Amino acid sequence: MKRIGVLTSGGDAPGMNACIRAVVRTALANELEVVGIRRGYAGLIRGETVPLDRRAIRNTIHIGGTILETSRSPEFRTPEGRTRAAASIEEAGLDGVVLIGGDGTFQGGSLLAEEWGIPVVGVPASIDNDVYGTDYCIGFDTAANCALNAIDRIRDTARSHDRLFFVEVMGRESGFLALESGIAGGAEELIIPEESFSPADVSARLREGFRRFGKKSAIVVVAEGEMPGRSFEIAHEIREHLGYESRVVVLGHLQRGGPPTVRDRVLGSMLGVAAVTALLDGRNGCMAGEVKGEIAYTPLGETGRVKSLDPDLMRIFPLLSE
Ligand code: F6P
Repeated sequence: MKRIGVLTSGGDAPGMNACIRAVVRTALANELEVVGIRRGYAGLIRGETVPLDRRAIRNTIHIGGTILETSRSPEFRTPEGRTRAAASIEEAGLDGVVLIGGDGTFQGGSLLAEEWGIPVVGVPASIDNDVYGTDYCIGFDTAANCALNAIDRIRDTARSHDRLFFVEVMGRESGFLALESGIAGGAEELIIPEESFSPADVSARLREGFRRFGKKSAIVVVAEGEMPGRSFEIAHEIREHLGYESRVVVLGHLQRGGPPTVRDRVLGSMLGVAAVTALLDGRNGCMAGEVKGEIAYTPLGETGRVKSLDPDLMRIFPLLSE
């Protein structure tokens, strides 16, 4: 093995740069050349590469986003797109590629490995934390802290005005961001895709909190689910039942930016080292994740399996939110 490539794909996630840096440093320490592939699979298809040396990754560990840029590439989902991608890999003389991204990235990577025999190793990076085979994905911790910071600020104004607030967080069809930021922010209610939602039940519990415990304000954390912006409709439905003054805040892409937390920098660094080590050890078609503090390798094809929320956190939420 002489030369490897690295790309970031899908939604950007804080900590991706720490991971790229770790890939480059580990590769150089093992006398491998490193090539950066720009704009994810879209750039790979077009052969957009840049040499990555020590200088290229210097002073990047603290920056959010990805220095390589990223994309969601419909073309890569087609056999023609992957044929062009495989040709670019051959042209660049790459003996292996590190794929930093989420489940969508790995489904495509798995096909590339299968169809073309190209050694690829994935690293999970997604603020949604919805990748099976790792306890945490790079970017989740920073995004959860961003959501928490927003909830804390909203609590100040909610309390001052006796208002009910709906705070919508990202996460697609997963409630990880909502659950952890909701617990940390002391939310009264949680609306997540993993659980059925009844406006009447949520309203009844909120009413009970106002009546029995004398609460005058409350925060409901809503996971965006399949329909970003859905908290406006949810707020409307609950207002019909409860008749309490409310406001909606959709955090949106704010959660994807900003400097990565300690946890995301350390995770990105650890998994970047593990990915290159895996390639050097001859592993292929797998993802390097972290499970219970240990590096764990999962076949790329399995990373799309449903990843359940922590049952202990689910159990304690109702107890703490009264
Ligand atoms: O997958 C990460 C994520 O931020 C999701 O939480 C969100 O639904 C989606 O990406 C937004 O994607 P885009 O930036 O393409 O609008």
